[in-house]
Amino acid sequence: MSMSKLRLGILASGSGSNLQAIIDSIKCGNLPCEIAVVVSDKPDAYALKRAELHGIKTEAVQSKTFQDREAFDAELVRILKDHNVELVVLAGFMRVVTRILINTFPMRIMNIHPALLPSFPGLHVQKKAIEYGAKFSGCTVHFVDEGVDTGPIIIQAVVPVYDNDTEETLSARVLKEEHRIYPYAIKLFAEGRLEVTGRRVIVKDHTKVEGTLDNPPQF
Ligand code: GRF
Repeated sequence: MSMSKLRLGILASGSGSNLQAIIDSIKCGNLPCEIAVVVSDKPDAYALKRAELHGIKTEAVQSKTFQDREAFDAELVRILKDHNVELVVLAGFMRVVTRILINTFPMRIMNIHPALLPSFPGLHVQKKAIEYGAKFSGCTVHFVDEGVDTGPIIIQAVVPVYDNDTEETLSARVLKEEHRIYPYAIKLFAEGRLEVTGRRVIVKDHTKVEGTLDNPPQF
C-alpha cells in the first residue's frame, strides 16, 4: 500500500532556493512529500516562477489588499486549507505569521533561519555574526510559535566563520547547508520521527553525532 504523501504548503517571498532544494529532493525520491501549493506575498517572487516551471500550483497574496496582519493570515489559511496542506513550510518568507496561522497549524509550521538560534535571531544575521566575532555560524530549522525565530529547534548545521568572511561569503556557505537540512527536517516530520516535548524536539531512532569541531583548528 503506497503511503499517502505529506502535502506541503510552501510560503516564500524571494528567490526560492530553499523551495528549489525541496523540489529537487522530492524529484530524486528522497522526500516522500508533494508540494500542494506555493504561496508568496510578492507576486514577482522568483520562487513562484520556480514552482510554475515544475507544474506546481501557485498563489500570490498581496498584503496591501488586507487591512491587517490577521486578515492576511486568514487568507493564507483559506488557500492552505483549500489545497489540503498538512505541513506549512516557510522558505524565505519575510513576514511574521500571526496566531491565525499558528493556531490553525499547531507544530505544523516550519521555518529556516540562517543562524544558530538562539544566537542572532531577526535580520542581518551574517553581519551580526561577523561583527560579534563568532567562530561558527550556521542554520536552524524550527517549528514556528508566536515569537520571532523562537520555536522548538528541529535540526541545525554548523559552518566555520573565517576571518576574511563578508556577509556574502558567509551567507553563501550557510545557504548551501540550508538546502541540505531543510529537506531532511521535512523528511523526519513526514516519517513521524519528530516528538515535541515543551521546547525540545526529540528525533526518534537517531544515532548520535560523534566528534567535535574547532575553529580555528588546532592541527
Ligand atoms: C535564506 O537565507 C533563509 O535562511 C532566509 O531567507 C533566505 C531565503 O532564501 N529565511 P531563498 O528564498 O530560499 O533562496
